[in-house]
Amino acid sequence: MIKLSPSLLAADFNCLGSEIQKIYDAGSDMIHLDVMDGIFVPNTSFGVPVIKSLRKNTSIVFDTHLMITDPIRYIDSFSDCGSDIITFHYESCFDKHAVINKIKNNGKKAGISIKPGTDPRVLEEYAKEVDLVLIMSVEPGFGGQKFMPIALEKLKFCRSLIDRVNPGVMLEVDGGITLDNIQAVTEAGADVIVAGSSVFGAKNVTEAVKSFKEY
Ligand code: DX5
Ligand code: ZN
Repeated sequence: MIKLSPSLLAADFNCLGSEIQKIYDAGSDMIHLDVMDGIFVPNTSFGVPVIKSLRKNTSIVFDTHLMITDPIRYIDSFSDCGSDIITFHYESCFDKHAVINKIKNNGKKAGISIKPGTDPRVLEEYAKEVDLVLIMSVEPGFGGQKFMPIALEKLKFCRSLIDRVNPGVMLEVDGGITLDNIQAVTEAGADVIVAGSSVFGAKNVTEAVKSFKEY
């Protein structure tokens, strides 16, 4: 069964706590927390204080997606504020092994992500060390964009890589996922689905979560 990680970026920021409660009660496995620094991506979102505050009222898995430059400087902060999984971008730093080690030494699950233009073969070097691989199916920075089909080939490549070298690794896809393309991404090998607008933007959020989980 797939895991669903709705992206908080598409939620009503006036009531984040109850938005999380709603998707948790409906059966979501995680909440996806998109952190943007305005440098790695041309947009900003929220950071440590917001995540720390949200952590007080929920036990849902915090799936933190760091779209920030030089992530190693902030791994301790994003660990301490309550993240369970911390995913950073391959393109955001030089020494990826050091970032992975830092996340794991903090007792958190480590994820590595690639942008749509990055060759998935770069992940071969890290597949044995990480807990999660995140394939971006839009250019990171904004919610509500259109799914890029190039992600399907990357998912297939990563599924076979993971099955070969480290079968426990989660394979997550993020960007433009709807009920119309969920079958294609899961058939390509994804087992964790991020969905922002198509969950929090739905008329009935509870029904949307259930439809994704039961598609
Ligand atoms: C994009 C973010 C995504 C995005 C997903 O930079 O990483 O998580 O918010 O939103 P939708 O599902 O609306 O594309
Ligand atoms: Zn994301």
